[in-house]
Amino acid sequence: MLMIVGVIVVGYLVGSFPTSVIAVRVLKGADIRDLGSGNAGATNTVRVLGARWGIIVGLVDLAKGWLAITIARAAGMPDYVLVLSGLAAVAGHAFPLFARFKGGKGVATGAGMVLGLFPLAFLVCLGGFLGVLFLSGIVSISSITAAILLPPSVYFLGGGKAAFETGDAVGIGIWLFSLALGIFVIVLHRKNIRRLIKGEERRFEKISILHR
Ligand code: G3P
Repeated sequence: MLMIVGVIVVGYLVGSFPTSVIAVRVLKGADIRDLGSGNAGATNTVRVLGARWGIIVGLVDLAKGWLAITIARAAGMPDYVLVLSGLAAVAGHAFPLFARFKGGKGVATGAGMVLGLFPLAFLVCLGGFLGVLFLSGIVSISSITAAILLPPSVYFLGGGKAAFETGDAVGIGIWLFSLALGIFVIVLHRKNIRRLIKGEERRFEKISILHR
């Protein structure tokens, strides 16, 4: 039991590493949460520091989710602990211990977690994310698309269907956590959703096929 709690705490601490906050503090001497959308994530880092740094921050944030899973796996933990450790990393990214509990929206770190657990579902979500991004140029709607695709992807490609068919309670629980992650990410985008409804959401016009 102590080991399980330890692995989950490590997941939270890994997720708490405030990549974008540190990058913008070091390179611009500012708090990213006072700039752009105010979100401490890769997208806002693109706005504040440019695409190159945004991509680096996004990859590090993704690595946090993957690392949490990898540490739990290396510790010999069962699948449900891997999931809890990954969710702890996403929670750490959103509410970081090392940055006054004001972090990002969990997309990149959640993606890293999904990559570590369900690589095929990750590819489907990534495809949906990139497809919507290149059409719209709006990251939030791309992230929400990926969050919506997550539960069905894990159901069909991550063992969810088999778990329901065989009545495997742990497998069903793991699928329910993928549902919870999707909902969590969407809830963290509530300000974006309000802006989308008002037509005020920021768009990267250069990457949008429809708005160039
Ligand atoms: O991953 C966060 C992204 O979906 C939205 O970021 O800065 O536009 O609120 P932002």
